[in-house]
Amino acid sequence: MNILTELRNRFRSALDGMADDPTDLLAMVRPAQDARFGDYQANCAMPLGKRLGKPPRDVAAEIVGKLDVDDFCHPPEIAGPGFINLRLKNQWLTERLGGALADRRLGVPEVDGPRTYVIDYSSPNVAKEMHVGHVRSTVIGDSLARTLRFLGHRVISDNHLGDWGTQFGMIIYGFKNFKDDEAYGQQPVKELGRLYKLVNQLVSYNNGKRSLPELERRAKEREEAIEGQQDAVASADKAAKKKAKKALRKLQSQLNETKAELDTARDKIQAVDDDPQLSTLAAQHPGINEAVLRETAKLHADDEENLKLWHEFLPECRADIQHIYDRLDVRFDCEYGESFYHHQLPDVVAQLREKSLARESEGAVCVFVDGFDTPMIIQKKDGAYLYATTDLAAIQYRMSTWKPAAILYVVDHRQSEHFDKLFAAARLWGYTDVELRHISFGTVLDEDGKPFKTRAGDTVGLAGLLDEAVNKAHGVVCANDDAKPTGAELSDEERKHIANVVGHAAIKYADLSQNRESDYVFSYDKMVALEGNTATYMQYSYARTQSIFAKGQIDVDALRESSAEIALDHPTERALALALLQFAEALDETVADYRPNQLTSYLFELAKRFSDLYQQCQVLKAESESMRNSRLLLCDLTGRTIKQGLDLLGIRVVDKM
Ligand code: ARG
Repeated sequence: MNILTELRNRFRSALDGMADDPTDLLAMVRPAQDARFGDYQANCAMPLGKRLGKPPRDVAAEIVGKLDVDDFCHPPEIAGPGFINLRLKNQWLTERLGGALADRRLGVPEVDGPRTYVIDYSSPNVAKEMHVGHVRSTVIGDSLARTLRFLGHRVISDNHLGDWGTQFGMIIYGFKNFKDDEAYGQQPVKELGRLYKLVNQLVSYNNGKRSLPELERRAKEREEAIEGQQDAVASADKAAKKKAKKALRKLQSQLNETKAELDTARDKIQAVDDDPQLSTLAAQHPGINEAVLRETAKLHADDEENLKLWHEFLPECRADIQHIYDRLDVRFDCEYGESFYHHQLPDVVAQLREKSLARESEGAVCVFVDGFDTPMIIQKKDGAYLYATTDLAAIQYRMSTWKPAAILYVVDHRQSEHFDKLFAAARLWGYTDVELRHISFGTVLDEDGKPFKTRAGDTVGLAGLLDEAVNKAHGVVCANDDAKPTGAELSDEERKHIANVVGHAAIKYADLSQNRESDYVFSYDKMVALEGNTATYMQYSYARTQSIFAKGQIDVDALRESSAEIALDHPTERALALALLQFAEALDETVADYRPNQLTSYLFELAKRFSDLYQQCQVLKAESESMRNSRLLLCDLTGRTIKQGLDLLGIRVVDKM
């Protein structure tokens, strides 16, 4: 059961007649920060007191008077200005633990009203090398899918592959003009990757050159605007100052954006200028940008030759990506890439025009959405459709096929404007009854704080990154085994297997344990460390539970079925027990705002409490048989909870480490 939900239900009844809408008050019933004050705490008497114009302690007393929690809590205590402290009864805790021990779901109930979720994640552009950001989308999406499913929801995971965009125009152009036959014969994907990169460099070079004057003009204009605004701030009176400063900050951030664009453009120009071979090619193919668009347009118009090439390239590219998914243990229910929607695009545009939601502007077809500086273009002047058009078609398809209550898009934060506009347009189109959410995440940085690139040199892509993590894990596993007081226990085979599990887990967990919206620094050494909030530590904690059973030759299944019970005599036992019973809460928190780091934090806390127990109490050598059994059962429930929790993160465990 979910203790927090139960408590909030009881508070809801108690608050009846005191507040019209108690939602925000109920959110103030929380697990206690400090165990000395109890297990849960309600801070709602303070705001409610303010609202009612009564002393908060009196309000707290009134709430407590009406609160019916006798069956599972000691009498609530009122502290300080009006905190209500709640302490669960041990007897009740032990009964719940018994229930969890006997339950495959560890006491986590299935949701009452299951919803249907479509989760759009991973979604790399094929033929381009997958990058670290795609791993982030893949593991966050996969873990949300697993967790929602475990809670009883219906989940459709959909890999919206970029398999139809301009990159194919680039590859086709490259294939027709720069192909190395021998290389293509030997390693087609690698050669396609090279062609893509080459053409992309030349295209970006031209784009950079073309956009430079405009970017420079904009930067200058913004610098001037900032100067003006600085004066405005200086001369503003007290009342207007805050607003003026806010406007200044906005201008400054806009300038930073322009400067970043300028830097990127200059870098791209320089990369070609500095390389004689590339410069020659750039000079020989001055119209490459237009040519690439023509190749793309031909493909989209079902041109026989280009379509044939596309059919030739696609399986190669997909196989390459599949290899990464196999290693990451990630599967999708469907993979409707962009190409899947291609034939629906004209109709999408027609429908939106018919409803007068889209209209022509400067030759392009646009949807104008309130609150945005620029409209959403859904068809270009030359007739081409865009990323946004495909996303609209995908919404229509998903809504009619699965009727989801929510569609989640796990995509990095740079696309937030795209999604804001897309969702606004979809609502205008009539999709008001669905939760459309951009599950945005930050950038993975290297130790210098720059966006992390999988090591330079074309051969080491994501596969290389995973290999490296496995190597590091191997080092840690061997060192740990060698340092065992009774000597090493693992065979070479076992060490390899463990390193493989631990290395992949490390990459995933490092991603998942971050607040998804923040950037984070990628560090192999930190992610495989045995201490701290890492997968390795979690897996180690699990293995420790199993090694206790192995050492004591315990048949846990039999023990669980015996009459043995968990008793809570020592404070560390009680602390661990409470954490174990909060698994359901942690999962609810995880899906409330789609944040897997809520689950990793929970597991980390649980593992620490287990470690406290292990250090402060004897398990196998406990004073009495019943105490020993009780602690063994706590180990059992801890191990199973960690295993289940890690499974929801897409992470496996090993019995020995
Ligand atoms: N292919 C895109 C990229 O790699 C991500 C697609 C995300 N999903 C979507 N429905 N737009 O940037």
